[in-house]
Amino acid sequence: MRWPRGLTRLCYGGDYNPEQWPEAVWADDVELMRRARVNLVTVGVFAWSRLEPAAGAYDFGWLDRVLDLLHDGGVRVALATPTASPPPWFSLAHPDALPVTADGVRLHHGSRDTYCPSAPAYRSAALRIAGALATRYRDHPALALWHVHNEYSAACHCAHSAAAFRRWLRHRHGDLATLNDAWDTSFWSQHYGDWEQIGTPRATRYLANPGHELDFRRFCSDELLAAYTDQRDLLRTVTPDVPVTTNYVLGGWVPVDHARWSAEVDLVAIDHYPSQVGIGAEEQTALAADLARSWARRSPGGPGWLLMESAPNLIYTAGRMHTKEPGRMARHSLAHVARGSRGAMFFQWRAPRGGAERFHSALVPHAGPDSRIFREAVALGATLDQLSEVDEGAVHAPIGIGWDAESWWALQGPGLPAELDYLAEVSAAHRALWQAGIGTDFVSPGEPLARWKMLVLPARYLVTDAFAAQLGEWVAAGGQLVVTYLSGVADEHGRVRLGGYPGALRDLLGIRVEEFWPLAEGETLTLSSQPPGATGSFWSETVRLAGAEPVIGYAEGPLAGQPAVTRHRVGSGTAWYVSTRLDEAAYRWLLTSMAATAGIEPTCPAAPDGVEAVRRSTPDTSWLFLFNHTDRPHRVPVSGTVLIDANRGPGELAHPQPVSEVLVPPGGVAVLREPSPAPAAERGVHDPQDIRHV
Ligand code: GLA
Repeated sequence: MRWPRGLTRLCYGGDYNPEQWPEAVWADDVELMRRARVNLVTVGVFAWSRLEPAAGAYDFGWLDRVLDLLHDGGVRVALATPTASPPPWFSLAHPDALPVTADGVRLHHGSRDTYCPSAPAYRSAALRIAGALATRYRDHPALALWHVHNEYSAACHCAHSAAAFRRWLRHRHGDLATLNDAWDTSFWSQHYGDWEQIGTPRATRYLANPGHELDFRRFCSDELLAAYTDQRDLLRTVTPDVPVTTNYVLGGWVPVDHARWSAEVDLVAIDHYPSQVGIGAEEQTALAADLARSWARRSPGGPGWLLMESAPNLIYTAGRMHTKEPGRMARHSLAHVARGSRGAMFFQWRAPRGGAERFHSALVPHAGPDSRIFREAVALGATLDQLSEVDEGAVHAPIGIGWDAESWWALQGPGLPAELDYLAEVSAAHRALWQAGIGTDFVSPGEPLARWKMLVLPARYLVTDAFAAQLGEWVAAGGQLVVTYLSGVADEHGRVRLGGYPGALRDLLGIRVEEFWPLAEGETLTLSSQPPGATGSFWSETVRLAGAEPVIGYAEGPLAGQPAVTRHRVGSGTAWYVSTRLDEAAYRWLLTSMAATAGIEPTCPAAPDGVEAVRRSTPDTSWLFLFNHTDRPHRVPVSGTVLIDANRGPGELAHPQPVSEVLVPPGGVAVLREPSPAPAAERGVHDPQDIRHV
């Protein structure tokens, strides 16, 4: 399957909402899209009330004209099913399909995402409109991709949801005795004697049952996935050659396990809006793109993925919007492309006059095309055109970082010894290696591990026996494993493993943790040994050696003289344990020393600190992306021809000629085509299916 169907260049465009504009504006839009070299737009994502103004009565005339206009203008379409925002008539006719909060409050129509994913009326209305769109546009030449729904993220506590949850629980646990055991319901008199006694975890007096909450999160993910696959299966029946996707929204509140979902989408697509500004936003961008690429390994459509939405300019940061300075839109877009995105898409094409998001940024801002943002959009279109060839290259990273949505959910549960931010723990590991210039993948449950030489498992709270065994074999075969505190503590139901922490990983790590010593907010402990001045914070533990050797010790406090970081040789590999939150420098020192021992080099060893290097490659060619995150220009020794030269004006393209160094200005990007494949250590394993020919 070629996807998005008919596209031969990197995708460039965004959400296009022509239904918000008089028809006279549409021709102008297409003309501006041509100027900016836009080649793909998502259409109709929130247009349900305009497509089906009354139950079963469709108005497709306007969409026919829009699709024809786009096709004539050479712009292809990711046609959306508009099911994230049911129309007013639907909510009035089916009040039982409005969602109920954990407090028992039924929400009303008036925003978006206001539906219950388990309500039969919602599911059948969603299928009806998806089917009507598929039948109408199955042969339309502009149709490149199905974009189902928008950012699946709803959760509901109504009677439909409770019934669906019980069905899901029966399927997962089989019988009530097993469920009672998994949830430890003898605690606080919660033993269930009948399935009907079980509801969704609604607001309650004090701490809720952690097993109940964890299973509800799993259920929400599966229920939303079923709502997606309902539509996907229908669309595949009508248009078997058109790929189907949905755009993921990222964040701790999202009840969706994206790694599992990725087996069901033909193209992994993410929306990314960094919550930070400055260098934090660059790190968040790298992390989101590394996640998307890693999830895409599971997709039947192949390893490519797409940045489906990002903001051209103003972004929400802590209650106020933040303006993206010149160059940032292109830099972030290219940071995604460097990590494997098949293009750069935006929310949104044209800024609306009204509606809740009227001040959200757009490629065509309120000021119109005579604006900095539109000029940068035109330049970005030219840049992406110039980079079409990189779409063939895959990114290979020598180190894997564990990613587990279920551990994240379990760590958001009640009654833990400390509120641990799982994402922050994962980000800390990613950041340490990102700063060191070493590429990382994320590794999801169930994946084979052989392609990585080194693995970091931050706060992997839930560990199954099978995963512990898989890790043991991988380490014995030569893997370098780092496990951090609060890993392996619980089984897949969230029940604590007895006999000492880190439970399932005790033998592999050669230690036994007898006690947790959570540290007070702001408290730090000096650590002994390398690197000088290292400290731990947030957490500490009584670590007893059972085969491992101490590497770093606690130098003060009640645990002074005891091990903080240990190392256990197993077969030809090593399993390290880190029992406290190391300060940034110490964490970076530890991970980079291990990487060096494993023979892992930075992507571009000659790149100075603050210049990020990412490589895409095929067996014959590679492309090196360099991002200067500092405030001074940097010369980087390289070898290759320059495809993008950030010293030229926006959209001014470099003349490919061999160079031995590039000057990357502050905030700038350079892209080079390298003469021959990268060294073998850097290239990693080349799966035949990693290589796409467009
Ligand atoms: C999400 C949605 C868009 C829009 C943007 C705003 O990504 O998909 O519809 O609301 O956020 O940032």
